[in-house]
Amino acid sequence: MGLEPEVISDNEEMRSWSRNQRRNGETIALVPTMGFLHQGHLSLIEEAKKHAGVVVVSIYVNPGQFAPGEDLSRYPSDFEGDLSKLREVECVNVVFHPRNLYETTTKVMEPKEAGEDALEGRKKAVSCLEEDGKKGHQTWIRVEKLEKNLCGRSRPVFFRGVATVVAKLFNIVEPDFAVFGKKDYQQWRLICRMVRDLNFPINIIGSELVRDEDGLAMSSRNVHLSPEQREKALSISRSLLKAKVDVQRGQTSATELRNAIIKSISQAGGRIDYAEVVEQENLEAVEEVCGPVVICIAAWFGNVRLIDNLEINS
Ligand code: PAJ
Repeated sequence: MGLEPEVISDNEEMRSWSRNQRRNGETIALVPTMGFLHQGHLSLIEEAKKHAGVVVVSIYVNPGQFAPGEDLSRYPSDFEGDLSKLREVECVNVVFHPRNLYETTTKVMEPKEAGEDALEGRKKAVSCLEEDGKKGHQTWIRVEKLEKNLCGRSRPVFFRGVATVVAKLFNIVEPDFAVFGKKDYQQWRLICRMVRDLNFPINIIGSELVRDEDGLAMSSRNVHLSPEQREKALSISRSLLKAKVDVQRGQTSATELRNAIIKSISQAGGRIDYAEVVEQENLEAVEEVCGPVVICIAAWFGNVRLIDNLEINS
């Protein structure tokens, strides 16, 4: 007999629900997602339940974090499937499911058109989580330094969309805790920084990355990989594990580690976006591995962009 999550779509209703819970002495944990849930998402929910009495899962594909030409229009979704998974975990009290009340599809641009034009198009075309149907935000949150490197280089509007929608979710749900996966390592660090800089009274929990049995980091986008691409994409997690072994055996040169990763992913047919060895908190690139680092990778297999990372605490 599962706990049937209540589905709320209205912002005010969501906020009243949370305030009622708090009046009754409950603590609230929020798990923000874009749906098409897998075991990685479900592990965040289990983590959330360790910290708070009630759990809210948000499901919202946020147009504000997709640039024109990215995969917003083919982002997978299966709301009914998600609901049945959430029923099974038996600890989700509310599914917050805001709707976009206006057309969010953006003009598909060729990569060469991206950059400032894309940013302009983006400002006009889309927004994050608005109920009143007025198109476009004027207010955006930028975590200036952390948004720039790694994924920020090839996705220049991504993190302002993430930070803005997460801030909005925080203001609507008013949680005590919010759980983010270390799968999206830069996103997790950026949200920690936003919470610190803007004094949100929320504890951010970083939850461990969940892999499939073959080692591939779970992602809603994996559904777009053909079986052959999926096999080739295993070069990402394998090269990360190999790098860790290399460090344990005394390799300290970030360049050597990067070169080995780039070589093995390229040989498997992947197109590298980046492979970086960075400090764990500020995500700045290191030359020598002499403290805790995280190796972050983004690579394309076909038209699917995958990210993965591995912390090394040597
Ligand atoms: P989404 O990609 O749906 O991911 C929702 C949360 O699940 C994120 O915190 C992400 O890091 C976590 N997650 C995804 N795959 C995981 C895995 N294999 N192991 C552990 N955690 C995993 O990230 C987003 O949505 C959006 O950017 C969002 C934060 C909801 C803002 O729109």
